[in-house]
Amino acid sequence: MPRWVRAADDEALGKSVGSALRVVIHGEELALFRLADGVRCLDDVCSHEYSRLSEGEVWDDSVYCPKHGSRFDIRTGAVTGLPATSGVRTAAVKVEDGAIYVDLGSLS
Ligand code: FES
Repeated sequence: MPRWVRAADDEALGKSVGSALRVVIHGEELALFRLADGVRCLDDVCSHEYSRLSEGEVWDDSVYCPKHGSRFDIRTGAVTGLPATSGVRTAAVKVEDGAIYVDLGSLS
């Protein structure tokens, strides 16, 4: 069941591809990323240990964890580089009227 929640002003994320923004919504630590074709949302917390993916480097639609360098596909949340062995959750995103909304009901 959709549960859209306003996450941030669109301009807070930044306009550059690869921009990231940490948001905490109803206790969920999430990271918003701007890709060439829109905004994506992942868990902000790495699946390996505690580290914030919103502080990682973004290359080719992947984010590298700043702590040990695991790589995650920003579109799917899948892990594509060790040492993490499991992916992170993603959620649907929409941008309307200058704001970014996340569907917490789709977080999986
Ligand atoms: S905490 Fe992210 S790779 Fe170790």
